[in-house]
Amino acid sequence: MRSKLVAGNWKMHGSLSSNLALLQAVRDGAKGAAGVAVCVPYPYLAQARSVLDGSTVAWGAQDVSEHDQGAFTGEVSGAMLVDFGCRYVLAGHSERRSFYGDTDAVVAAKFAAALKAGLVPVLCVGESLAEREAGITGEVVTRQIDAVLSLSGVAAFSRAVVAYEPVWAIGTGRTASPAQAQEVHALIRQRFARDSAEVASRLQILYGGSVKPGNAKELFGQPDIDGGLIGGASLVAGDFLAICAAA
Ligand code: 13P
Repeated sequence: MRSKLVAGNWKMHGSLSSNLALLQAVRDGAKGAAGVAVCVPYPYLAQARSVLDGSTVAWGAQDVSEHDQGAFTGEVSGAMLVDFGCRYVLAGHSERRSFYGDTDAVVAAKFAAALKAGLVPVLCVGESLAEREAGITGEVVTRQIDAVLSLSGVAAFSRAVVAYEPVWAIGTGRTASPAQAQEVHALIRQRFARDSAEVASRLQILYGGSVKPGNAKELFGQPDIDGGLIGGASLVAGDFLAICAAA
């Protein structure tokens, strides 16, 4: 039996003053709930640690360098994230893939760097609307996963999480139906099962894309959906906590 995980992705939102109330509310409201995390912008990692340390809520970052250290201006290494107590880091969010040139190869390298640093990478995969309409969702998601599998191997996924985020459902209010999401989650699990039935059966596969308090329960009730990666609704404490409760 897999446990559920609900992770917030704040994206580029927040300020020291607005974060404080949000972090405190999540910390206090998530008491006892297993598997809650927030991925905050880099400058707020210290604040997340100071509010969440000792609570059941984990924290993480939204990206990581593929390099360990060196002359890489503007980059942040996995070791630096560990220094700030991060447990999770996103790898290959669709916004990184589409706006910042994170190719499958770059995502695979970032995933490997995160693992090496001791972080739990959350590998994000998902198809665009054009790809879904062309009927190649399975191919796209498999290609994104295969790039990581070929670099890190299936055993790496015993210390990682996968998030299926159809690009057309992110921030659009257009959620994949529970059946549509379940179909892709099952396909993802089958892909891992080809390499290791053991890893596949334990792997947490999160759904992301316009998850709200009103649709979370039905999505999380699907057999291969093990929680969610939450964007917009993670910025509103009451909504995020309601989604956590649904898990
Ligand atoms: P929304 O929940 O705002 O659609 O964002 C999903 C997402 O991209 C989480 O990483």
